[in-house]
Amino acid sequence: MGKKGREIVELDIKQMIADLNRVYADEWLAHFYFLHAAHMVSGINSEEIAEVFRQAAADELGHAGKIADRIIQLGGVPVAKIEDLAEASHMRKVNFPRETSDLKGFIKVFLEAERIAIDSYSELLKKTHQKDIVTHELIEHILEDEVADEEEFENLLG
Ligand SMILES: [Fe+2]
Ligand SMILES: [Fe+2]
Repeated sequence: MGKKGREIVELDIKQMIADLNRVYADEWLAHFYFLHAAHMVSGINSEEIAEVFRQAAADELGHAGKIADRIIQLGGVPVAKIEDLAEASHMRKVNFPRETSDLKGFIKVFLEAERIAIDSYSELLKKTHQKDIVTHELIEHILEDEVADEEEFENLLG
């Protein structure tokens, strides 16, 4: 991003980049775990759920890409080392069910992750409100997706 684009950000840009890197890491972890779960689930209806997880994995990677673009616009660098991603993330330890046919168990893990994402993005929305309009707009779109994800998983749990 150009000089003027950075000047209109009325926030500590370094802090903003750090905050964005945390959610960037969250998105990568979500992508990884969704894909992993898509491979692992087994039994009745698992193909349907695997497809939901694969789609979610693609969506979360899309979010990571958009966040990376914004980090770069702000003059930052997205987390560069794969071993640093988990460290940078908000995500707690992920405990998938022992039984790969326990589809609800997998869904519950992701429901929890979506709720953490909703919290993180809501916080960022408040922080950027009228202070960093471009990031605010981006976060708003991503938050919409995460809210839809939460609802989808709630519905799947019935
Ligand atoms: Fe996401
Ligand atoms: Fe999501």
